[in-house]
This record gives sequence, structure tokens and C-alpha cells, in this order.
Amino acid sequence: MQNTNELNADLVVILGTGGTIAGTAQDAADNVGYRAAQLGVLELVRAIPPLAQRRLETEQIAQLDSKDMDFATWRKLVLRVSEHLARPEVMGVVITHGTDTLEETAYFLQRVLAPTKPVVLTAAMRPATALQTDGPQNLLDAVNVAADAQARGVLIVFSGAVHSAEQLRKVHSYRVDAFASADGARAAVVEEGRVRWLSQLATSRTPFGLGVLNRPLQTWPRVQILMNHVGADGSVVEALLSQGVDGLVVAGTGNGSLSLPLEAALRAAQAQGVAVLRSTRCDAGPVTESDQALPSAGALSPVKARVELLLTLLAAN
Ligand code: SIN
Repeated sequence: MQNTNELNADLVVILGTGGTIAGTAQDAADNVGYRAAQLGVLELVRAIPPLAQRRLETEQIAQLDSKDMDFATWRKLVLRVSEHLARPEVMGVVITHGTDTLEETAYFLQRVLAPTKPVVLTAAMRPATALQTDGPQNLLDAVNVAADAQARGVLIVFSGAVHSAEQLRKVHSYRVDAFASADGARAAVVEEGRVRWLSQLATSRTPFGLGVLNRPLQTWPRVQILMNHVGADGSVVEALLSQGVDGLVVAGTGNGSLSLPLEAALRAAQAQGVAVLRSTRCDAGPVTESDQALPSAGALSPVKARVELLLTLLAAN
């Protein structure tokens, strides 16, 4: 089946942002004591012989450990992705990224662009210098997915599986198989370079579009995440309000439930004009809507609910 990709497009653009996939360690047997974001994206590509047969371009967008990902880099990345996708010869874009905040970047790109061509993020749990590094296979698989005729939207390729931006969650701190489609099916698997699709890619919601990113970065809304837990009171909400906050995402217990004092504090914040979204600290599953309760984030994890609220507030201004 031919998707909306250009018929003659055969170029894949690979954008580097850093992460463990570009990390190096002193000792090849050391999988954790390494420095992320040391190698350039071109070096990563050159280390994978089969990629020599592909028409590729590389560009270094950033070189950081993804725990330090920021709005300025997000904006630069989304603009470059959009520019490359608009080129008729480009069939897809691949982004190398750290695993730690990959799901946030993927969701941000999907909700801003909802691209018809594929934008494929990949990463690694082990540095490039490891005895059994996972980065090269993940990057090769990502390029194969970006070149697949059925691929579209923001996808994540990791450890032989393809995930959508909505479903993806990092579920393990150390294992090589660190990601899962936590609340739905994997989109596809990559087997010896071939993509086997397992589920229909969901039709995306209307994207926010690049226009929402025009506001100066220093005026972007402050959206914070807090959690319900045993003994949770309203003090964190009050502290955030005193510093100035535009939005709050609460990771509730179970189906988004909140202790009485935390709910009271959040309702008070809402009454002062702070946008509130209720998510769950569970690993999967939605928070069901209720007229009596604070607004639900649906099936979005707390970090993705924060991205959604950030973009909603940017769009409102
Ligand atoms: C990072 O997120 O940049 C470091 C950790 C990783 O890539 O696994």
C-alpha cells in the first residue's frame, strides 16, 4: 500500500540529539559508567555498514543527555523536522535521542506536526563502546522503518519493536528492552530489516501546528507535575502557586483519585485560573471522565499530559 509519501522520495534524513546511543565509556564492559552524547550522528551512521547503501543525510541538532532536554532544543528540532519533511525527495526523518525523555519528545513532535511522512525516533540503552551495544541495530531498524511505505506519523523503533508516540513508555531503567506500548498494541516489529505491521496506526488528533511555538521561550507556560500518595496534602500545590504556575498535572492514584486535601488545593488552584489535568501514576490505563471530578488526561501518562497541557496553553495564548 502506498501512503502519502512522495513516490520518488528516497532520502532519509537522520538528526542527532545525543543520548546513550552517542555515548562512550572508558571500559567496554561498562554499560552504565559512561558519558552520553559524545559521538556525532555521522560517526554513528558510519559505524553501520548496511547504511552505506541508503541515500542519507545527517544533521546534528543538539548533543545532550536527554534528562537535560529543553524547550529551545524542542523548538529547533520540530522546525528542522518540518523543513526536511517538506522536501519532496525526503521519505522520512530519523532522530537519535536519549531514552530518558524520548517519550516526551516523541509526543511533542506528534502533537505539533502529526506528520504524514514517518518521523522515527530511536535510542540505545548501552553506549556505543559497549561489548554488545544496541544502538547500531536500533538505528538500522529505524532507517528501515522510515523507508517503509506504510510508515507515517511519529514512531519509535527500539529493540525490534515499533511503537506509536501515544503508546510509548519507558518501562525499565536498565534492560535493553526498555520500552513498551503500555496501553495498546505495538505498531509493528522489525525482523531482519523487514517491517511487519501488527496494528493500524491510529488516525491522529488535529495537530497544534508550528504557530503555537512562536511565543518567546521565556514566556512559555510553566506546567508542573505532582503526585497523590499516602498522606498527600495541598502543600506542594500551595508552594507552586506561590512561585507562579500556569498548569498542574496530578498523577493520581488508580483511576486518578486524589486525597481530600490535595483535591481541595487543586480545586483552589483551578479557581485562581491554573489549568489542572488529572492523570494516573499507574503504568497503563486511562483516567475515566467524570463531571464531578477535575478534568481527565485520558490515557496520557503524566509526562505526556504535561506536554498536552503545555501545548493547549500555548495555543490558548
Ligand atoms: C539519555 O537519555 O540521554 C541518557 C540515557 C539513555 O539514552 O539511555
